[in-house]
Amino acid sequence: MATRDTSFLLIGLLVLFHTWGAWANVEVNMEDRVEVYRGEMAQIACMFTSSDGVGGNVIQWFYVTRTGERQKIYYQDSTMKDVEKGTPFTDRISVNGTGANGEIVLTVSDVQLDDELEFICVVKALTDGTGEGRTKLKVFETPGSPTIEGVQTGISVHEENPSKIGTCEVKHGYPKPNITWYRNKTPIHAAQDVVKVVPSITTESSGLYSVRSELSMKVMKEDKDDLFYCEVTYFVPGGLRMTETSLINITVYYPSTAVSVWVESPKGEIKEGDSIELHCHVDGNKLFSIISISKEDGVFWENKMVVLENVSRLDSGVYTCTSTDADTWEDISGNTTVFVNYLDPAVVIPKDGVELSLGEELTATCNALSSLQTHTVWFKDGEKVSMGHSLNLKDASFDTAGTYKCVVTVPEFEGMETSNTLNVNVNGPPQIIEPEFTEFEKSFEDMVELSCDVRGYPAPTVMWSTSDGKILDAKSKTDAEGVLQSVVSIKVTSDFTAFCNASNAFGMDAVSFNITATKHTPTPDTTTTSTAIPTVPKRIRKEGSGVIIAVIIICILLLAILGSVLYFLYKKGKLCGRSGKQDLTKEVSSKDNIVVEMKSDNTEEAVLLGVNGEKQPQHN
Ligand SMILES: *[C@@H]1O[C@H](CO)[C@@H](O)[C@H](O)[C@H]1NC(C)=O
Ligand SMILES: *[C@@H]1O[C@H](CO)[C@@H](O)[C@H](O)[C@H]1NC(C)=O
Ligand SMILES: *[C@@H]1O[C@H](CO)[C@@H](O)[C@H](O)[C@H]1NC(C)=O
Ligand SMILES: *[C@@H]1O[C@H](CO)[C@@H](O)[C@H](O)[C@H]1NC(C)=O
Ligand SMILES: *[C@@H]1O[C@H](CO)[C@@H](O)[C@H](O)[C@H]1NC(C)=O
Ligand SMILES: *[C@@H]1O[C@H](CO)[C@@H](O)[C@H](O)[C@H]1NC(C)=O
Ligand SMILES: *[C@@H]1O[C@H](CO)[C@@H](O)[C@H](O)[C@H]1NC(C)=O
Repeated sequence: MATRDTSFLLIGLLVLFHTWGAWANVEVNMEDRVEVYRGEMAQIACMFTSSDGVGGNVIQWFYVTRTGERQKIYYQDSTMKDVEKGTPFTDRISVNGTGANGEIVLTVSDVQLDDELEFICVVKALTDGTGEGRTKLKVFETPGSPTIEGVQTGISVHEENPSKIGTCEVKHGYPKPNITWYRNKTPIHAAQDVVKVVPSITTESSGLYSVRSELSMKVMKEDKDDLFYCEVTYFVPGGLRMTETSLINITVYYPSTAVSVWVESPKGEIKEGDSIELHCHVDGNKLFSIISISKEDGVFWENKMVVLENVSRLDSGVYTCTSTDADTWEDISGNTTVFVNYLDPAVVIPKDGVELSLGEELTATCNALSSLQTHTVWFKDGEKVSMGHSLNLKDASFDTAGTYKCVVTVPEFEGMETSNTLNVNVNGPPQIIEPEFTEFEKSFEDMVELSCDVRGYPAPTVMWSTSDGKILDAKSKTDAEGVLQSVVSIKVTSDFTAFCNASNAFGMDAVSFNITATKHTPTPDTTTTSTAIPTVPKRIRKEGSGVIIAVIIICILLLAILGSVLYFLYKKGKLCGRSGKQDLTKEVSSKDNIVVEMKSDNTEEAVLLGVNGEKQPQHN
């Protein structure tokens, strides 16, 4: 069998040699590299052409050992296929195809990192021509997710050497992954004495790589907001991949460069009594700096916040916040000016009230010292009487008297106000306010109530009396407008005249009331109240002197007539009053009432009353 095959081959070769007269030429084509993940299966193809045709070739697979030698792992010819014993691939390779179609594929299963070798496919033609090709097997392992860890402590800008910023790590990759540091999206490059990137690579027993990279930097204040991260790049079959870590920031300690201090509350203007809150901000963040707030006059708080309660104008001033670097003892400060607005109590001039005479004029002022524009209004009895700080009272009358209140407000501040009062008294003789009725008709034994309202300052003394000289007890009270009201109650026993006399240092005034006792309605009721019978009120005081003179003349004439009548009767020896009295009564009652009033001194009245019809019986 074997002999027959061999003889066939030999015949074939002879034919070939005759035909071309040369040795056969074998060409092998292979990929440069085959890339595959660890644990997967690698297929390394070997393509060849031979001038002998593709049948009957000897095909062998080798790999190149670490020391550079060829190690055969497979042999195949037209009669046999043989996997070399005792190599790392003995159990893991298979070769597909017979080579009859010019292609043979070496399959390596469960590829290991150690399999990353160069494989050689050698094809030997029948006629002793040989060709070979090589393929490198590349093995890959995707690393785990990279991690980043930033330093937890702050970094001072004063550090002399680069300080550690953080560490990135990526584990179990193959081939070795690279770590690149980024700051704010820009790759960080090592720079002498300023930036150091120190990588360290660990090869695991499995052959995988773990890579760490530590970044150190000299930091500046500007770095305080920087964000750092790492990018890991690694190869995968057919390409390059990268992943990024999360971001880290760092705490940079730097000395202050600016200090600001301000009034946090209240916002806007400050007034006495407010509580104010001063805040200080220092842009530095050195761990050890001393912050304090102080005032020009030396008041000092070792704090970055101060609350001043119930401030007064004395709290106005410049407040300075100072930050002292505990390392260098360098100071840096900022200041703010605080102004506390005030409104002093209102001062009224004249101070202790004022007394005016009727017709006099007065200018009073009301002032309140304030740091702000003020607005003054004068009130009397709740009504606005004048605007502005001065109050002018012209032609004083009793109505002028009273309490004036000046209210000083600060329009800028609601509720900031002060007030004071001025008491004005107007001196003048009493003025009795004309009573509605001065004539009353009352039944005997009734009570009559008479009232007299008097103005005048100083408060007048009011005295009541009757025509027969009796002094009456009065009750008096003064109302809010300074009007004194004096009231008497008298029991009516006969006709009489009552006088209300008011006087003070400046003069006097009087008014009289006529009470006529009537018989018609003799009520037993003694507690009855007065019923006024309105008649024309007459005031003595108001009468002109002409009338008085005329009245006096008439009186004298009447007296003369009376005298002559009496004399005539006396002469006749008939001194009996009946008829004469009747005449007199008629005459008098027909005359003006005033006549009698004016002449009513006690004696005269007695005479006249005596002749008056109504009372006559009692006299006798
Ligand atoms: C062997 O080759 C044949 C045809 O070329 C193909 O169908 C088959 O999948 C191959 N087997 C392996 C293990 O590569
Ligand atoms: C890693 O860096 C080296 C040197 O710069 C470079 O040759 C290599 O290709 C890089 N590897 C990756 C996975 O980027
Ligand atoms: C990063 O900044 C955030 C706020 O911006 C802060 O909460 C966090 O603590 C900072 N992290 C570090 C590591 O400084
Ligand atoms: C505020 O201070 C003033 C004196 O400056 C004092 O009279 C007043 O009682 C104080 N008010 C309060 C609420 O403490
Ligand atoms: C307040 O600060 C200003 C500069 O901001 C400075 O010119 C002034 O002298 C300071 N005043 C005091 C009292 O420190
Ligand atoms: C009261 O006034 C009247 C009228 O002026 C007068 O006649 C009388 O005497 C006065 N009485 C007293 C007590 O002053
Ligand atoms: C008061 O009455 C008398 C008579 O009784 C009268 O003469 C006099 O005019 C009256 N006076 C007034 C003011 O009415």
